[in-house]
Amino acid sequence: TSFSGSKVQVRMAKTVFVGDVGVGKTSILNRFCRDTFDDTYRATIGVDYEMERFWILNVPFNLQIWDTAGQERFKCIAASYYRGSNIIVTVFDASNLESLSTCQRWMDDAVGANSVVPIKFLVATKMDLVPQGHQDKIHQLGLRMANLMQAEYWPISSKSGENVELFFRRMAALAFEIG
Ligand code: GTP
Ligand code: MG
Repeated sequence: TSFSGSKVQVRMAKTVFVGDVGVGKTSILNRFCRDTFDDTYRATIGVDYEMERFWILNVPFNLQIWDTAGQERFKCIAASYYRGSNIIVTVFDASNLESLSTCQRWMDDAVGANSVVPIKFLVATKMDLVPQGHQDKIHQLGLRMANLMQAEYWPISSKSGENVELFFRRMAALAFEIG
């Protein structure tokens, strides 16, 4: 934390969410920021923004979160928000492995816009849709891809809320250390 006069400068970090259309990026933010979930799909147009305040060791810390659109026609707008990211979160749909195959490209594009390599996360969402017996397979594939990317792997569900809070706390904690 830095002080200038009596004004406290709150530390902050920038996070960008990327990944294919409909994988569940916006739903993750709706779960964490508002504790809501909606089964109806509403495409993100270009980019959305959220700000979340965390308290880490009694120090306020703001996470700026940019939720980009997966639709191809918004690619240019979305990509213009990649610069200056401290964290990149690439999301895939655990019930649709086609969305895992594009993760490397999403990550490379977002990382490539930054001069300092950001902290990287690979999130497998919609885990509630994966049958119990198939979950280990998803974790294996997710971990392998995460290793390739040098990212941390997080399986979550926005519908059930599984792991969502823990994932955000982890993001904030890692960003805080480098902030
Ligand atoms: P774009 O903004 O177009 O890039 O899509 P997005 O990645 O933001 O996807 P969005 O969060 O809008 O979710 C797409 C659809 O998947 C919606 O119908 C959601 O209700 C559904 N969905 C998202 N997360 C989950 C989840 O964890 N479980 C289940 N069962 N459905 C989910
Ligand atoms: Mg969206």
